[in-house]
Amino acid sequence: MRILLFSGKGGVGKTSVAAATGIHLAEMGKRTLVISVDPAHSLADSFDLGGALFHADTSEPLPVAERLFIQEVNINHEIKHYWNDISAYLTAVLRTSGLSGVQAEEMAIFPGMEELSAMMYVNQYRKGSEFDVMVLDCAPTAESLRFVSLPTTLDWYMKHIFGFQRSLLKAVRPLANRLTPVELPPDSYFRNIQSLFEKIEGIDTVLQDAALTSVRLVTNAEKMVLRETQRAFVYFSLNGLVVDAIVVNRLLPDEVQDSFFDGWRQAQRETLAEIEQYFAPVPVRKVPMFRDQVLGYERLRRLASALYDDGEDPSAISRSAPPFSFVREGEGYRVELDLPFTEKGEVGLFKKNDELVVQVGTVRRHIGLPTTMTELQPRKARLSGRKLVVELGGKQI
Ligand SMILES: Nc1ncnc2c1ncn2[C@@H]1O[C@H](COP(=O)(O)OP(=O)(O)O)[C@@H](O)[C@H]1O
Ligand SMILES: [Mg+2]
Repeated sequence: MRILLFSGKGGVGKTSVAAATGIHLAEMGKRTLVISVDPAHSLADSFDLGGALFHADTSEPLPVAERLFIQEVNINHEIKHYWNDISAYLTAVLRTSGLSGVQAEEMAIFPGMEELSAMMYVNQYRKGSEFDVMVLDCAPTAESLRFVSLPTTLDWYMKHIFGFQRSLLKAVRPLANRLTPVELPPDSYFRNIQSLFEKIEGIDTVLQDAALTSVRLVTNAEKMVLRETQRAFVYFSLNGLVVDAIVVNRLLPDEVQDSFFDGWRQAQRETLAEIEQYFAPVPVRKVPMFRDQVLGYERLRRLASALYDDGEDPSAISRSAPPFSFVREGEGYRVELDLPFTEKGEVGLFKKNDELVVQVGTVRRHIGLPTTMTELQPRKARLSGRKLVVELGGKQI
């Protein structure tokens, strides 16, 4: 099983590139599922299937060609089947705040629910044997980062808060329900959360395993898009995922000679050079802008031939160096994290119990330390080239 995750800024061509990759894989004989992790689904539209999936009250994979399936998570279906108790409770709470039934139901679809649902499917399929490759068409960068950091966050939540909260509530509920108009969550709410946790269990390890999962960042050769791509690269690395390709989409083809586009061509050339230099040794793939929108199987297929050579396997593993490593050094250890494009002031660092917490900008990463290292303290941290190097040593600081 291989998982290819396509992410990038809104509108750069993630869905088109993911769909084209799916077509290429299926045509070379791999049983492939392209699954949309973007709540604003456009996968079926990309295949020009009209509202085929939108109208179906199901989240089942839909066959679109031999060995090729696509799937969009239908949130209403998911709520009915998997989020019942959570949504019933949230709806009840929202109704006591004065919202009508329908409004409350709408509001009870909270951010992350769709991504989390999609992730449960990914986890289910990777344990099964229906597919050889899963291609994830992700939401714009910020949201897909939530998607990849969710499992560890939930795991952390489970470990640190969940058990405590549950037993505390058991103790105070008989009293609290008499005093407050808003009901505290019933036990079924927690059971529901627990069963969801069980469904995504282990997915974080899967996403961080370079032999299973690779991230491909789709970008355009524009300055603002490049900045976001760099941030995405850092944040994915911080979450332990390996980015093994950058896809630069919509490059002006040479046949466009109109002087109107001279400025664009110049800017694209400069930004492309910058991209190649910045991300090296990660390979950069180039896709031209086509005459038309990339809609429907045949055009997606054309995009695939611009992206991949004949017979080239997009699911091959090309880069597997983990984004962080632990190196023994005398009495202590050195932790090295791949953090290109990061400035000194952006990095925060502290140790909490058995975790090293690294913060870049607003994103935090809890790195679980091996048991041999839990007694150690961070001594020194420095940014060196593309790496953050943290030295951990004995207790005296
Ligand atoms: N190389 C390309 N040439 C021409 N149009 C493209 C190309 N790549 C994507 N498009 C078009 O750009 C629009 C946005 O692409 P899409 O794949 O939906 O982006 P995203 O998923 O990143 O939001 C779509 O209309 C798509 O057909
Ligand atoms: Mg999209």
